[in-house]
Amino acid sequence: MDTENKEAWGSRIGLVLAMAGNAVGLGNFLRFPAQAMQNGGGAFIIPYLVCFVLMGLPLLYVEWAMGRFGGKNGSHSTPFMFGSMGRSFLWKYVGVMGLFISVGICSYYTYIEAWTISWAYHSAMGHFMGMSQEQVAAFFSTFIGLGTPEPVLIWIACVALNTWILSRGLQGGVEVAAKIGMPLLLLFGIVLAVRGATMSAGHHGALYSGVLGLNYLWTPNFTSIWDPVVWRNAAGQIFFTLSLGMGSIHCYASYVKSKDDIALNAMSAGWMNEFVEVVLGSAIIIPIAVGYLGVDKVVEMTKGGSGFGIGFMTLPYLFTQWGPLLSALSGIMWFGLLFFAGITSSLAMGTPVMAFLEDHFGWKRRSGALAFGLAVLALGVPSVLSQEAFNEFDYWAGTIALVVFSLAEIILFAWVFGMEKGWKEITDGSDMKVPVAFKYIIKYVTPVFLLVVFVGSMPEIWATLTKKITTHVAVARLLMVSLFGGITWLVYLANKRRATL
Ligand code: PHE
Repeated sequence: MDTENKEAWGSRIGLVLAMAGNAVGLGNFLRFPAQAMQNGGGAFIIPYLVCFVLMGLPLLYVEWAMGRFGGKNGSHSTPFMFGSMGRSFLWKYVGVMGLFISVGICSYYTYIEAWTISWAYHSAMGHFMGMSQEQVAAFFSTFIGLGTPEPVLIWIACVALNTWILSRGLQGGVEVAAKIGMPLLLLFGIVLAVRGATMSAGHHGALYSGVLGLNYLWTPNFTSIWDPVVWRNAAGQIFFTLSLGMGSIHCYASYVKSKDDIALNAMSAGWMNEFVEVVLGSAIIIPIAVGYLGVDKVVEMTKGGSGFGIGFMTLPYLFTQWGPLLSALSGIMWFGLLFFAGITSSLAMGTPVMAFLEDHFGWKRRSGALAFGLAVLALGVPSVLSQEAFNEFDYWAGTIALVVFSLAEIILFAWVFGMEKGWKEITDGSDMKVPVAFKYIIKYVTPVFLLVVFVGSMPEIWATLTKKITTHVAVARLLMVSLFGGITWLVYLANKRRATL
């Protein structure tokens, strides 16, 4: 069956860039700074780094290893990948999450991606010039409140663009997008970060220097080290930013040749993401916004931890303080950077579904891409129409499901498949020496850590489930349940097909 699937990465640099593009996303530039401000700046960074080492790195090894293992057996998406690693038939159904999460996130993620296109355009045309801060904010509110057809039209175009790139395959589509997008993103990011970090008080109307914001973030502060909510948020950020517990790393890694290195590749892509997040991600929004507005105001504006307010309402206004030319350039760079970050991630969310349809139903790449595009459009409607539905998708598919999925996969890998075999999968063909400590971290520390995070979130999950809900929330939940049910049914059908082949 899998012989029909000739998809493969063209080069190592292409693979690493695509994987880094997968991880580097809107999460690095909008979600990270907002989470960091919200959770106490220097108080957030400590749990964040601990989560990176104890959950991020181990799970990167595990997901890459699972991916390459699955690819050897012709499974490029998690259901049958998991099925081949554990004896119980149930593992296939645990793998359903690896499709559910990526499609679920993509439904609202592409909508934000579309905003970045519009905002780059409005910046380039100088539309923000002369507006007051309130006017920019009102412009954005009208925009996302569907005061014009623009966001919906651009969103449809953006999904179509994703579909088109996906239909060109890994080498001809995803890899090309990463090779163009990642260098540009780095370039724009570095220019803006230098600008943010070197902004001086009194210049262009700034009240404080950029360093004030950076200090807030980087001065270690132990006050919240015992606060479970800060830990939950730090863990959530690590998952989201590294694309862990989503099924997309497994899929990309499954197209690696069976004898190729995965350990060094995993580390290269993972560390590149962290560089972009902690260096570039913290040096743009925070210093610029804090420079004009002060720490307290920015903390207040990042409530909810998404960063949309600062990224789309405040920054374009602040850029206008720099004069028409710099303002247009900064806007193009900032929203261009967000766009490249976004699209290289949404492409990664699309590949598992395509791989599943190709592997198990013999679909052509194009039909798979089209099916994915249509599914994203159908599932995205509630998020486009209602902020509540948007948050609901982000909460279940983009936060809670990641923890559950990671917990399940690490148990499968370290305890069911077995750590000895697992370690061999990680280190086989490896171009670096993986520290042996990770064998124990993966087996004992990470699962316990994940369990604690999960149990710690139980009260909140329970409270969310028992709260009175509006129709928008109900529709969003119904759609998510149908999506999950639908994928489960497809896995069941695929399994029957396999048995009869
Ligand atoms: N890691 C991406 C980000 O930081 C999000 C993502 C989610 C990417 C799911 C791939 C799959 O924005």
